[in-house]
Amino acid sequence: MFSTDDLCSLRWDPVSEKVEVIDQTLLPHALRWCHLDSLQAFCHAISTMQVRGAPLIGITAAFGLAHALSEDASDEHLARAAATLLATRPTAVNLRWALEEIRVAVRHLAPAERAGAALEKACALREEDIANCERIGDNGLQLLRALPTGDRLNVMTHCNAGWLAAIQWGTALAPVYKAHAAGLPVHVWVSETRPRNQGTNLTAWELQRAGVPCTIVADNSCGQLMRQGRVDCVIVGSDRTAANGDVCNKVGTYLKALAAQASSIPFYVALPESTIDWDCPDGEQIPIEERDAAEVLSIAGLDAGGELLEVNLAAAHSQALNPAFDVTPSWLVQSLVTEHGNFAASEEGLQKLRAVATGA
Ligand code: MRU
Repeated sequence: MFSTDDLCSLRWDPVSEKVEVIDQTLLPHALRWCHLDSLQAFCHAISTMQVRGAPLIGITAAFGLAHALSEDASDEHLARAAATLLATRPTAVNLRWALEEIRVAVRHLAPAERAGAALEKACALREEDIANCERIGDNGLQLLRALPTGDRLNVMTHCNAGWLAAIQWGTALAPVYKAHAAGLPVHVWVSETRPRNQGTNLTAWELQRAGVPCTIVADNSCGQLMRQGRVDCVIVGSDRTAANGDVCNKVGTYLKALAAQASSIPFYVALPESTIDWDCPDGEQIPIEERDAAEVLSIAGLDAGGELLEVNLAAAHSQALNPAFDVTPSWLVQSLVTEHGNFAASEEGLQKLRAVATGA
């Protein structure tokens, strides 16, 4: 489905040695690539959400650290650049994981060898992410095939956990792409995901490009759609999964999980192992990013003349609070869909995953 000529969210050109990312703040209205050529540009891309989504944040940071080492490969600069990248966004643990992967790959090398080794590792992590997401797709497809459905297989998702959030395939959307390719009559309910509208702006855009039928719905309509029997399952991604199976994902995920439980609809979370924080015992310990209140108080879109416009929604001086993520307790999650297989969202389930991953 994703040939090498197809779009991916981050491309690396070994000839020009350029890292380019799609500027996701401009989607769905414009598809523009952005060349990242300094540590500052990498940090800016992550913190302003030109790139976003847990796996993509991690891979971008890996290339960012490799770039920093090409300018100065000393221990001090390695530590400083890693700390600067780590501070860009707090919740997605893939960021910390990817920086650590690079650090481990270079720490015993002489400074002259570090930049090359870091770049090689960043490229390997990018390739691994693609392979892992495709495996998540295959494992999730098994769950979709087992669902009792009518003439349409109605999957609901929240935020964007498609290829825009990873490199290719995505996590939550990988099973959807696999199902579509396998000829299953899949249709996706895309919840808009206020305040930044990743569902409307990104998920609907990438599903449409792939020819997967989808319908955008207001976040608040999702519970009613479930009660009416119009949803066969919910699949979301994760920014950090605690060792007990609690899942942190885009704010609004928890409400969907509650509604799914009340309507006996399976609620699946798709994630690569790099999203598991083994040091975090439960969801209460996960740092929740709080973003600018302006995101709640305003909205952006095209005006009648096709110009991008941001407008205020609330009365002047209104107060707003903007937590960007929430925690869904493990007991609301039917299954964790990973590159290693499908596991119970529990400490035991994650230990089984670890055993499979390490071949123990
Ligand atoms: O704030 P964002 O857009 O980075 O949040 C992204 C999400 O919450 C995704 O669901 C999550 O990262 C999983 S991505 C495969």
